Amino acid sequence: MIPNTEPEKQNYYIEKLHELVDSFIEQKHRAPTFCIVTFGCQMNARDSEKITGILNQIGYVETLSETADFVLYNTCTVRDNANQKVYGRLGALQSKKKKNPNMKIAICGCMMQEDSAVEKIKKSYRHVDLIFGTHNIYKFAELFYLTLTNKRLVIDIWKEADKIVEDLPVTRKYPFKSGINITFGCDNFCSYCIVPYVRGRERSRLPQEIVKEIKNLVEDGVVEVMLLGQNVNSYGKNLEESITFAQLLQQVEQIEGLKRIRFMTSHPKDLSDELIDVMKHSDKICKHLHLPIQSGSTKILDKMNRKYTKEKYLELALKIRKELPDYSISTDIIVGFPGETKEDVLETMDVIRQVEFDHAFTFMYSKRTGTPAASMADQVSNEEMKEHFDELLNVVHEISAKRSKRLEGTIEEVLVEDQNSHDDALMTGKLSNNSIVHFAGDKSLIGRFVKVRLDESKGFYYMGTML
Ligand code: 5AD
Ligand code: SF4
Repeated sequence: MIPNTEPEKQNYYIEKLHELVDSFIEQKHRAPTFCIVTFGCQMNARDSEKITGILNQIGYVETLSETADFVLYNTCTVRDNANQKVYGRLGALQSKKKKNPNMKIAICGCMMQEDSAVEKIKKSYRHVDLIFGTHNIYKFAELFYLTLTNKRLVIDIWKEADKIVEDLPVTRKYPFKSGINITFGCDNFCSYCIVPYVRGRERSRLPQEIVKEIKNLVEDGVVEVMLLGQNVNSYGKNLEESITFAQLLQQVEQIEGLKRIRFMTSHPKDLSDELIDVMKHSDKICKHLHLPIQSGSTKILDKMNRKYTKEKYLELALKIRKELPDYSISTDIIVGFPGETKEDVLETMDVIRQVEFDHAFTFMYSKRTGTPAASMADQVSNEEMKEHFDELLNVVHEISAKRSKRLEGTIEEVLVEDQNSHDDALMTGKLSNNSIVHFAGDKSLIGRFVKVRLDESKGFYYMGTML
């Protein structure tokens, strides 16, 4: 009997998939392989870890090569260049599948929540075997079983999520750190943004489920968590027993063995004094706040439906600078939103100079079909957008170089994350404030906290010496 509750139903399919893998191994004398390519944000990265968890559980082995027995693209659609990358790679997979006809190809994630993308794949990329969206990731075992036992395209996309399913297997990319979803979806409807349409309405996980998951992770060796949500500051608003994000942080802080807490993303309109107070008194919350401004012009912010003015943002950011002086602040900026003039860009530059962002991720506006901004009249030309983008980037670099100089010569605690990809003799670690430092060391340090002197700032990173 197939169970009709979750996660029991998925566990049933995990068993069935195990049997399929056993017979694969018997026939081919090797384990089947998989390759997941993840586009986009931390949410997608976490979803990929969930899918990896299931594939590992059933006996698939991960490889980085897209000639694997199972190739999955976890897509992003926040800007059009992410979509174009997926189409390019998907096209290239066709010849690989010709060489390995048993190869299965799947595509999931935000792009699949858009009808036009699904239609295009069905029509022009017939080598795809499975398409699913963002709301039914928890059904992956079931969908994968159907794909392996079927010759036809399996397609399952939901408009909304029906529930939050807990307790399915997950394989983390890093043994010592992990993302944790605290909310799914977004209710803000910024006028340029596709996320509310592809990730659905905002839903919060129960605090006790979040705490339980983190406790389990800590037992498994995790020392740093990143609490994930499109707008973490509105966490808890739709729960029966309401709770604020600041209160959730206080509960997470209590977890013994956990050393570092990060979170992403904070919407300026919801960042409370209560949260600033909790950050101020915390031993574990990392000294970094990501606070997307998007634009420094009140006129553009209004058209973006961001619900704050230039002055409100400045007031908040400068309060944070005052209350939390050793915090770094990063931001997101969109250039070329409909109606944006040189004067508006100058307003944005003014905020960058006043707040002195440690990092700013700058994006050229990308028109997303179905969003209010897509049908606004005064779209900015590509040439103008590019010109403003370059000018803005110069200011961003100038300010962040100035900010990072400030820590030159200081000794900081660093969590060692990776071996440097260009030089084996160097290790890469992260400071509490999210800066990166490279220093001489060996792989045995990965996952450990060490003290590093920041010798030289190189703009985006430091070169340091381990003490
Ligand atoms: N065009 C350009 N940038 C966008 N972002 C979201 N939607 C768009 C768009 N249509 C940016 C915002 C957001 C970040 C994750 O992506 O700056 O904060
Ligand atoms: Fe998009 Fe705005 Fe929601 Fe962020 S807060 S995901 S930019 S709609």
